[in-house]
Formats: sequence, structure tokens, C-alpha cells
Amino acid sequence: MSVNQQIENWLVSRKKSFLHSNRPFITLAFAQTLDGSITTDQGDTLALSGLASNRITHQLRSLHDGILIGIKTVISDDPQLTVREWQGENPQPIVLDSQLRMPAGAKLCTHPDKRCWVLTLQNQESENSNADIDIFRIAENGADFVPLDSAMKLLREKSIHSLMVEGGARVITEFLKAGLADAIVMTIAPGLLGGYRAVGDLEQTLASSLPLVSPMFAEKLEQDLLIWGDLHYGENKP
Ligand SMILES: NC(=O)c1ccc[n+]([C@@H]2O[C@H](COP(=O)([O-])OP(=O)(O)OC[C@H]3O[C@@H](n4cnc5c(N)ncnc54)[C@H](OP(=O)(O)O)[C@@H]3O)[C@@H](O)[C@H]2O)c1
Repeated sequence: MSVNQQIENWLVSRKKSFLHSNRPFITLAFAQTLDGSITTDQGDTLALSGLASNRITHQLRSLHDGILIGIKTVISDDPQLTVREWQGENPQPIVLDSQLRMPAGAKLCTHPDKRCWVLTLQNQESENSNADIDIFRIAENGADFVPLDSAMKLLREKSIHSLMVEGGARVITEFLKAGLADAIVMTIAPGLLGGYRAVGDLEQTLASSLPLVSPMFAEKLEQDLLIWGDLHYGENKP
């Protein structure tokens, strides 16, 4: 069976058995080097995946209702987040953007069939007159960032039953810290960069409370290594 088919079968079955009704099923999907770098320096754009792994990313997009990234990835990479290398529907693009910095010229603002959803804080005073986005203000409860629990509840209420989180590093780290990611698909590119790490400080002291991938699957795909599996958290999972 092809790697594409294996990942699709696994993901479809995981989504079916997902029981929470107050948030979407959440998959983290990103590329990193062998030493865990997501890019050279924070804010640098670097394509790490080979062609075949890139097709998997597009296939994964087609298997989720929504796709979420952080504002810093919008600013540095200006991605489209559409399904181009695979057959299927585009997921709903969603950006975490506490300070409403979404640039008017971003490609996400000229999406072929969806208006980008920008999640920000309720007390956000700055205006963003961008007519091409839908802004959702979320109660901040003293947080500097958009609170993920409330954001995920809102997305589920808006019929996002499955969500692919494509980065960047800060966003990946915050989802892991919150114990909110259910599945992970990592493309490991065969380089060593000594760069900006995909997973930052998880602020966990006990090994038993760290995220664990189990079962974990792996396949070589051209020059890359693809690793995927279910995420579990230790005793301290929120
Ligand atoms: N290799 C890959 O697969 C891949 C994928 C994506 C990105 N990247 C790279 O990653 C880099 C960007 O990553 P990054 O870590 O700098 O930024 P990021 O994760 O893209 O965005 C983080 C920002 O999102 C906003 N945010 C709002 N609510 C948040 C929340 N609850 N949790 C986390 N963030 C929240 C914050 O900015 P505000 O305070 O302004 O709201 C935060 O600083 C770029 O260099 C990009 O090229 C690589």
C-alpha cells in the first residue's frame, strides 16, 4: 500500500473514533530537518519537503475541514494553504493573530473559494479594514495570545470537525503544551540546520506528562522520512 493510502486510512479511522464534541480533531503537520529545525532562523522561509512529501501535505489538507497557522507564518511565508498537488476540497483557512496584523496583500486574502478566518482577542483595539477576511474576537481571559480552548470551541461550533495545524513553531508548541493535538504527521528532511526548532519549551518537568506518539508509523518517501501517529499525553493532560 502506498504511503499516501496508509496515512489516509489511519487518519480517516482516527477521525471516526474521535469523541470530543467541543473541539475539532486536530492534526499537527510540518516539516523539519533531522536536528528538529523547522527553518534556519525564525521568520526565514525554507522549503524542506521533497515533491512526494509535499503531495502528502496537500492530501492532508484535503482531509481536514480547516487549516490553521500563526500570523508569523503568514508574514514570513505568505502561503495559500490550498489543495493543488492532490484532488480534493480546500480546507477553511484560519489564522491566529492576536494583534490583527493580517496583511491586506496576503495570498490568504485572495483565496479561490473561501474568506480567511482571523482569530483575534476581544480587547483588540487596532482596526483591520481588510474586507477580504472574517474576524472573530475571542475573550482573552488575561492571555496575550488567542486562547486555544475557546478558539477550538468556536471552530467546532462553526462546523470545523477536523483541523490541520501547519505551523509555525510557536503554534505547534502551544498546541502541544495545551494537550490539544490528537495526531501528528512529520516530514523529516535529510539535513542538519542548527536552526529554529519546530517544538519549543513545553514547560513540562515530568517525562510522564510529555506528548508521546503511539502507535508511531514511519516510511521513507524519496529522500525524506515520514513519521506519523497518534499523540498521547501523560497524567497531566489538561
Ligand atoms: N517547515 C514547516 O513545516 C513550517 C511550517 C510553518 C512555518 N514554518 C516557519 O516557521 C516560522 C514561523 O513560526 P513562528 O514560531 O515564528 O510563528 P508562528 O507559529 O507562525 O506564529 C506565532 C504567532 O501567532 C500568534 N498567536 C496568536 N495566538 C496564538 C496561540 N494561541 N499560540 C501560538 N501563537 C499564537 C502570535 O503572534 P501575535 O502575538 O502577533 O498574535 C505568535 O507569535 C517561519 O520562519 C516559517 O517559515 C515552517
